[in-house]
Amino acid sequence: MIETRDEFEQAVTEARRAAQAYYDTGDALMTDADYDALADRIAAAVVAHPGWDDQGVTTQVAAGASAGGDVRHPTPMLSLDKITTTEEVGEFVATLGGDGCLVEVKLDGLAIRAEYAGGRLVLAALRGDGSTGEDVTAQVRRGVAGLPTALGTPWTGEVRGEVYMTVADFETASANRVAAGAKAFVNSRGAVAGSIRSIDRTYETPMTFAAYELSGDFGSHLERMAFAAGLGFPAACDLIPAVAGERVTAEEVTAAIEAIGAQRADLVFPIDGAVIKANRESTRRRLGLASRTPYWAAAFKYPPDTASTVLRDIEVRVGRTGRITLRAIIDPVYVAGTTVTRATLHNPQWVLDQGLAVGQTVAVWRAGDVIPRVTTPIGEQPHGLTPWTPPEVCPQCGEPWDKSSLLWRCHTASCSLVGLITYAAGRDCLDIDGLGEEIVIALVEAELVRDLADLFDVTLEQFATLRTGDGNRQVGLSVAGRITAGLEHARQQPFNRVITSLGIRMTGRSVGRWLASRFKTMDALRAASVEEIAEIDKMGLIKAQHVVDGLVAMGDVIDRLGAAGLAMAVVDDGSVKPLAGQVYVVSGSVPGYTRTTVSERIEALGGTASGSVSAKTTALVTAETGTSKAKKAAQLGIPVIDPEEFARMLA
Ligand code: IVH
Repeated sequence: MIETRDEFEQAVTEARRAAQAYYDTGDALMTDADYDALADRIAAAVVAHPGWDDQGVTTQVAAGASAGGDVRHPTPMLSLDKITTTEEVGEFVATLGGDGCLVEVKLDGLAIRAEYAGGRLVLAALRGDGSTGEDVTAQVRRGVAGLPTALGTPWTGEVRGEVYMTVADFETASANRVAAGAKAFVNSRGAVAGSIRSIDRTYETPMTFAAYELSGDFGSHLERMAFAAGLGFPAACDLIPAVAGERVTAEEVTAAIEAIGAQRADLVFPIDGAVIKANRESTRRRLGLASRTPYWAAAFKYPPDTASTVLRDIEVRVGRTGRITLRAIIDPVYVAGTTVTRATLHNPQWVLDQGLAVGQTVAVWRAGDVIPRVTTPIGEQPHGLTPWTPPEVCPQCGEPWDKSSLLWRCHTASCSLVGLITYAAGRDCLDIDGLGEEIVIALVEAELVRDLADLFDVTLEQFATLRTGDGNRQVGLSVAGRITAGLEHARQQPFNRVITSLGIRMTGRSVGRWLASRFKTMDALRAASVEEIAEIDKMGLIKAQHVVDGLVAMGDVIDRLGAAGLAMAVVDDGSVKPLAGQVYVVSGSVPGYTRTTVSERIEALGGTASGSVSAKTTALVTAETGTSKAKKAAQLGIPVIDPEEFARMLA
């Protein structure tokens, strides 16, 4: 309640500043709902004190609505009476006197009018105050989906409708705006308000149009809109086809309103209500118009989809694809029909650019997506808050992030499924030809692969029909064939590589070999204690503990890998072991081998591959003389073998 003149003037100033910022730049100093509440308080004060001047707040400047413009509308651009209860729905339906009506989405954007002459766009203007509005022809020519500059038919007439942003439009526009150094948009309606009037925008802000009026004689709204769609203007009444069609009873209308409301969170376009409108022209003529609203239509408003609340914390996690995920912990707030306490945030750079700080008021938007999101800080920022900074390393493994894309990545196998599968498919593990990260991401996103063992159930056809990139490219049969052959090849890989492919923390290809040669079978390895594993030279207790924990955690996956035919034991082929008891240190490359395969070959022949020269070393394999290993070998009198010769020896 506003009581004093001072309070009143303060409220009016606040409201005007908010409306102006919103109208001029799309920046929100408060949410629409907070604005409406403030305007209501101002209106109540004016009723109590008729002498007080609200400077137009309650009459002209609604959030996102302007005080007019240069273009005079040939007939006023009307607004709609709001209804909020089932009783009011009943009353409205009763006025139709049994005539049919339609229930359609009320898009949350700005009303726009476009004139065409001979099929060409000649004028586009915003609603403004209903009588005059701003000329936005140039901006519309820049591109608004559904509002073409040239039609396929030389039609002359006028179309009215809503210009709005789909969730995808919003993401692009907001990201482009932040990249251009400006603040993020609050929600898609604010984004349209901030984009459609700025002629000199340097960044792209995709927008979409849907029609709800069209000039010309038609018997009904549905006929009119079918004609609009034929011209190339998508119709608002077609956006949710399931509720299209005439209704007559209050129950039918209420059910349709509820059906739209239930779908609201999943829609790709933002809505703030449902519009009930008479279908037949005769009904509309009979009911007529009030000064600013028709009697033949009404808007049922859903709860606001944007609210403001206080940011309390930002949690950093790693998602299945290894991407960083940020989760905002917020004070509980009611938005689009539910109370939320958590919301997503875009990416670290975004948070930094916005200067978000814990303790700050933020806008939370919930539309077209079940997960609410924090879009931007709101209003003045309290003093003394320190902007949040993201951790430099992955909180799960402590490795630095890969910052090559906006969504930072952690490649550590144990931190993400994509990391793990890509690692397991790599040359030093299962060596699955053709299976790179891009295809692994597609497998994980398609939910064909939830763990390593699932990989061996994916069929040739599933690989072939996978979509990679932005979903535009199909993997195709030839690559799919290579991958399935690679999976077959993986089944022939030695036991040590299967151990390595499990991606257990702090273990790599050497640990895989050590464990395989010490325990020989997966059963024996799984039965081993931390102490037994730690006894292996250079393992130590910490690594051993990771091995035990990792094997327990992967128990089910290991069983299924075994069932899929992967090696679960060292194959003793009964061959002679000419290198038995010998220890080789390989430094540099050996022709025909990788670092992994040369070690595996030495061990298959009964020898040991070691990383450092000691008194136990049989020979050092290297072509270099100046290295520290070569010097140490010389000191200890250990022979040096040339790599070429060693390759012949192994053969
Ligand atoms: S009919 C004469 N249908 O809602 C009636 N309006 O509060 C003209 N709106 O300014 C409007 N979706 O910008 C209609 N499917 C829809 C709508 C819609 C959004 C907006 C429109 C209008 C406001 C009325």
